[in-house]
Amino acid sequence: MVVHGLLWLLPLFFTPISFLPRTCASSPSVLPELTTPKVRHSNLLRSAIQRESSDSQEDELWSPLDDQGWIPAGQSSNRGALPEKTEGYLQVFLDGGLNQQRMGICDAVAVAKILNATLVIPYLEVNAVWKDSSSFSDIFDVDHFIGILKDDIRIVRELPDEFSWSSREYYATAIRPNRIKTAPAHASLNWYLENVSPVLQSYGLAVIAPFSHRMTFDNVPTDIQLLRCKVNFQALEFVPHVRELGDALVNRLRYNSDGSYLQEITDSNVKHAGKFVALHLRFDKDMAAHSACDFGGGKAEKLSLAKYRQVMWQGRVLNSRFTDEELRSQGRCPLTPEEVGLLLAAMGFDNNTRLYLASHKVYGGEARISALRSLFPLMEDKKSLASTEERAQISGKASLLAAVDYYVSMHSDVFVSASPGNMHNALVGHRTYKNLKTIRPNMPLLGQLFLNKSLSWSDFRDSVIEGHMNRQGQIRLRKPKQSLYTYPAPDCMCAA
Ligand SMILES: *[C@@H]1O[C@H](CO)[C@@H](O)[C@H](O)[C@H]1NC(C)=O
Ligand SMILES: *[C@@H]1O[C@H](CO)[C@@H](O)[C@H](O)[C@H]1NC(C)=O
Ligand SMILES: *[C@@H]1O[C@H](CO)[C@@H](O)[C@H](O)[C@H]1NC(C)=O
Repeated sequence: MVVHGLLWLLPLFFTPISFLPRTCASSPSVLPELTTPKVRHSNLLRSAIQRESSDSQEDELWSPLDDQGWIPAGQSSNRGALPEKTEGYLQVFLDGGLNQQRMGICDAVAVAKILNATLVIPYLEVNAVWKDSSSFSDIFDVDHFIGILKDDIRIVRELPDEFSWSSREYYATAIRPNRIKTAPAHASLNWYLENVSPVLQSYGLAVIAPFSHRMTFDNVPTDIQLLRCKVNFQALEFVPHVRELGDALVNRLRYNSDGSYLQEITDSNVKHAGKFVALHLRFDKDMAAHSACDFGGGKAEKLSLAKYRQVMWQGRVLNSRFTDEELRSQGRCPLTPEEVGLLLAAMGFDNNTRLYLASHKVYGGEARISALRSLFPLMEDKKSLASTEERAQISGKASLLAAVDYYVSMHSDVFVSASPGNMHNALVGHRTYKNLKTIRPNMPLLGQLFLNKSLSWSDFRDSVIEGHMNRQGQIRLRKPKQSLYTYPAPDCMCAA
């Protein structure tokens, strides 16, 4: 997991992040799609469709996590309230998708606090993959954000008129002395004091861009860590229309319109009446190409993904140096919809399980999802649960779509993600903070099991159950260098 997680960050550090638009000559998405993905594990799939799960297995699966003795930490007040005067304005430009930007926002608040600066509501860049131009206030509730943090730092929605020249375009066209371009990955607090404070003093405004993954998680005073936690877990709330749509989806997953549970309660489904699993499935072309794994779409798919790697990363993708077998046995391949279906079936989820698919676009389309649907016929997503009118405000906007999926995933009884990445990490962290059940696929184990073409269903099931016993939300303490947004204990939580 960790290995793959780090690899996934590589394009961030290896591709030049600039303010200039990407100059890809041709958009890879216009290449013809020739793929017809096939079922890859037909023996397992056949057995899985006929599976029967035991009552005791289902009891375990659907019961909430036990109290693990950890609760969200309160606020520390040892740094005191707002400084009497501000040292100037801090502005950050955030790259990446919704969840990478989310971490950047938390770090920006912490840096503003360290510098006694006034934070300008962060500017969200349009990402080359997600292509969403939604601003901070289109996604997050700004009043709530400012209100929750009002005793910690000063925040303004916009720069005052005297700084109105400080725009994205201004920094894109020339080198500007008030812009800090060289913040190292995971920079220390001292780095900010030494390099950004002087800029604040000289210009009254410091701009840091790029600013993703630019603040260390180690040797940070407790009150600053707690402030990062407070931003992530309390101050960042989605705008009302996203929460309302999310609530509507959650209600439709749980209940009939008359308020009764969706499924008639019979002996066989009493365990999960009104409950649902949220499955985050990031299986788009970008991810498929970057992983360099073989997903069963034959020669056409292989060529198409190789071409994509060439256009997007000029072929510089570390994984493409390994064979599919090597990648799989190291757990570096995202699970396909079919594979994640087999995982859930082996764990004991039966075909009455309500599955919410938190997913943007699945590479290969319905053909790739059909195996999963055959295992979980009660599968829903935003489209199946809400009308076009209800979705009008979020339609076509990757960040808002992801926000709705995040919200529904936070409200699910069980959350599982088919591949590591920022959304997975953000939800694992947030659900840990709230002690909610979260299945973390054991990628190396699954990779190895799926390589064995003669594996029987019962062997597969037993290995999966054993290999996921302690991967359902048990507290894992953050280790040095790990992110506090993925591992909120012990920085954001206390042992009660
Ligand atoms: C679920 O599986 C059982 C046993 O294989 C089968 O009889 C039943 O029709 C299936 N239900 C659905 C909704 O597919
Ligand atoms: C921030 O303000 C506090 C007092 O409120 C002061 O002790 C500290 O040195 C200031 N730091 C900077 C970087 O200005
Ligand atoms: C593959 O699975 C079969 C049957 O479940 C088992 O007997 C065999 O040892 C497995 N092979 C490997 C290489 O693990």
